[in-house]
Amino acid sequence: MKEKISQLKKEAIHEIKSSDTFDSLKKLEKKYLGRKGELTDVLKGLKDLGKDARKDAGQFANQAKQELEQALKETQVSLEQVTGVKIVTKNDWVDVTMPSKLSLGNLHPLSRVQYELEDIFSSLGFMILDGPELESDYYNFESLNIPKDHPARDIQDTFYIKGKKDQVLRTHTSNLQVRAMQEYGAPIRAIFPGRCFRFDATDASHDATFNQVEGLMIDKNISIANFKAIVDSFLSEIFNRKIKTRLRPGYFPFVEPGFEVDLPCEICKGRGCKVCKNSGWVEFMGAGMVHPIVLKNGGVDPKKYTGFAFGFGITRLTMMKYKINDIRHFLGSDLRFLKQF
Ligand code: DAH
Repeated sequence: MKEKISQLKKEAIHEIKSSDTFDSLKKLEKKYLGRKGELTDVLKGLKDLGKDARKDAGQFANQAKQELEQALKETQVSLEQVTGVKIVTKNDWVDVTMPSKLSLGNLHPLSRVQYELEDIFSSLGFMILDGPELESDYYNFESLNIPKDHPARDIQDTFYIKGKKDQVLRTHTSNLQVRAMQEYGAPIRAIFPGRCFRFDATDASHDATFNQVEGLMIDKNISIANFKAIVDSFLSEIFNRKIKTRLRPGYFPFVEPGFEVDLPCEICKGRGCKVCKNSGWVEFMGAGMVHPIVLKNGGVDPKKYTGFAFGFGITRLTMMKYKINDIRHFLGSDLRFLKQF
């Protein structure tokens, strides 16, 4: 029996080594090691031998099988080198449908709320626009009726860029008002979500980086009533219930008249807490009718068109929606916070 195996092995290895195509290699594998292969046949015959002979011949046959497999592998590798073709075997497969062990993470709460706002405003016919975070003094201030020596600049503690006098990190998303009018003209309905920066001292409700969204709607005969309708419907969508707002007159150089919109504090339900500075209300957004000078800067005729603009912090809205009591959580990178969304 051993002699038979020895002879078979010799022939097989010779044939394998002189094989010069992948095809013939495959055939040889089948011929010797396949289900009905010659060596497989011999192995099947072992069961008819006596116990000791079976053990002895069994070991010998297994050894031969391993040598054949080794010869097949080596010949395949040298054929791969010669032809530059790589044969992929079942062991090399990756099952892409297997569940991954890596955790995928989740959206940051600020992105989550921003995408929600984008959906709501798109459904109201608004475009979603994007713009530069490093902005010219003109679009961030001057085009919005805030000249160089205007006191309104003092409330926006700006990051100026060393060596570039007319470039600032935008202090608000209002920087896109005139850019949008210049690009699309009137009528226009658009929101501009994005990051803003101010040289602000950090506390529970202020951070130097925060996210805002600006809205702009310009058309014939637009009034504060249109603003009220839009704001009421988006706030009710976001909070899933009717929201009671408080409107106060407010001053912003780029709107006339201007006003501030307050919301009841979500954290304390109006009782007073550190977020609302014990007033029960949180200042939610600035808004107003776009100033004729701003319309002109955007190339829109103020005699034909009117419009409203509003701006608010996505950061503040997210704090209210998810009852987050400290703004520093957002950029603190603490996974215990981030994994809750
Ligand atoms: N840009 C203002 C800020 O960051 C917010 C604002 C006020 C935007 C009034 C407006 C507006 O569009 O009409 O404080």
